[in-house]
Amino acid sequence: MIDLNQLTKIPFISSIKYFESTTSTNSIALQNITSDEFTIFIAETQSAGRGRNNRKWVSPPSSNLYFSFILKPTLNPSLFSPIPLLVAVSVLEVVKRYIPKNIYVKWPNDIWVEDRKISGTLIEISNNSIVVGIGINVNIKDFPQIEGNQPTSFFIETNKIHNRTEILKDFFHNFHKCYSIYLKSGILPPESMAVLNNNLKFKNQEVEVIFNGSSKRGRVEGIGADGALLLDTGKILAGDVVSVRSF
Ligand code: BTN
Repeated sequence: MIDLNQLTKIPFISSIKYFESTTSTNSIALQNITSDEFTIFIAETQSAGRGRNNRKWVSPPSSNLYFSFILKPTLNPSLFSPIPLLVAVSVLEVVKRYIPKNIYVKWPNDIWVEDRKISGTLIEISNNSIVVGIGINVNIKDFPQIEGNQPTSFFIETNKIHNRTEILKDFFHNFHKCYSIYLKSGILPPESMAVLNNNLKFKNQEVEVIFNGSSKRGRVEGIGADGALLLDTGKILAGDVVSVRSF
C-alpha cells in the first residue's frame, strides 16, 4: 500500500487524490485542472493508462507507481520547454539511488536502465496549467512479451520489493528542489544539466528524431538549457528519438 499519511506531510503538496482504480490519472488531473498546484492523483491501477504518441501504458494493480500532478508555473508558457527535463532528472536521481547500474535519460523524459525502459512521463498542457503524469515500474516481476527491448523494474534489477511511498517521496523531494530553481530562472539548474548530459542515452550516436510526421537525423551532442536535444545538424524541441547506429 502507498502510505498517504506520509505523503500528506510533504509541505508543498496541496492535496492527494487516491484511487484504487481509475481510467488514467492524467485524464482525471486534466478534468480537475483548476485544482491547486501540486495536487497529486495516484492510482493503484489504470484501465486506460496513456503513454506518449497515443501509446497505451499498461498499468497492473498494486505493483508500480502511476501518478499525475498539476503545475501552474508563474512563467511565460514560452519558458515551459525545460519541464520534461526537470521531471526526467528527478526520476533519474531516484532510480540511480536504488539501482547501481548505468541509468540513462532517453530524451525527452524516458528513464532507462542500460537498454531497458523503467519509467515514462506524459506531460499535457491545458490553459497554461501542466499535468505531469509519471509511470515507474517498481515491483512488477515480468512483462508481456513485446516487440523490441523489454521494459524493466526496480524488482527485476535488484531482486527486491521496494517501498513505493519512499520512491514517491524521493521523487517529489528532487523535483521540488529543481522546480523552485527553474521558477526563478526559467532554465534548468546547471547541476541538473550536468546530470542529464552525463547520462544521456545515445550521446555521440547517430539517431533519427521523429516529430509531427517528419524526422531529422544527426549525432546527439547533448541537451540545451531550454530542454532541446542538440544534434550536430541542429536542435530539436520535441519528438521521439530512434537509434540509428553507433559511431
Ligand atoms: C510514455 O513513456 O509513453 C509515457 C507514459 C506515462 C504513463 C503515466 S502513468 C500515470 C499517468 N497516467 C497516464 O495515463 N499516463 C501517465
